Amino acid sequence: MIGEAPWTSASAPRADANGRAARVRVRMPTADDIPRLVALINELAQDSGLLFINAVDPKTGASVLRDHLASIALSGTEAVFVADQGDALVALLTATRGAHEAKRGVVDIGIGVRQGERGRGIGGALLEAAEHWARSVGVHRLQLTVVTTNAPAIALYRKLGYVNEGVMHASAKLDGVYLDQYMMAKLLPG
Ligand SMILES: CC(C)(COP(=O)(O)OP(=O)(O)OC[C@H]1O[C@@H](n2cnc3c(N)ncnc32)[C@H](O)[C@@H]1OP(=O)(O)O)[C@@H](O)C(=O)NCCC(=O)NCCS
Repeated sequence: MIGEAPWTSASAPRADANGRAARVRVRMPTADDIPRLVALINELAQDSGLLFINAVDPKTGASVLRDHLASIALSGTEAVFVADQGDALVALLTATRGAHEAKRGVVDIGIGVRQGERGRGIGGALLEAAEHWARSVGVHRLQLTVVTTNAPAIALYRKLGYVNEGVMHASAKLDGVYLDQYMMAKLLPG
């Protein structure tokens, strides 16, 4: 969201060996974040194959992203959360509502944490932020797909109350290999 971030996470990611947790903050991105957001997206696209995120063009990406964030701020169809750690953004979550009225109460989640920052509670804090936002806008279901071998992600989702609703066979192709994915979801009682 462009402008003042309206919400920040109450969750506190754990410290790493250098005690950096105190500086990690989960919030919505502002216009000032856009260059760092481009860098984060491109790093995740490079390092996190299981996230299935496309890299953005380093030349045009900033303006594309600026337009996208401005448009979702107006439409309310999507929320984006970042984790910032001083000078760098270290994690990203997108929460996308269905475009059709019938699917407005359903949100698709995508999440990625920079390789060196995983296992510190940052992913959990981002998911809590997304859930907080989802409840505030009347969303009743969070859902995602996850490759069946992605143990850290599956453990994180289970810990936060997501349940496995089934398998989508051969639903993604990575490095020439078809992969199965679980459909996982969490219902948010109204
Ligand atoms: C999945 C991902 C977002 C998790 O983020 P994270 O910041 O590392 O997760 P957290 O530190 O918040 O972990 C929370 C819980 O998840 C589980 N978990 C996280 N990493 C784990 C691992 N390597 N092995 C087992 N469980 C793990 C644990 O239950 C953990 O709780 P605990 O620390 O109390 O034991 C991160 O690993 C990532 O970005 N992976 C690459 C991209 C990706 O796979 N995205 C998801 C696609 S569906």
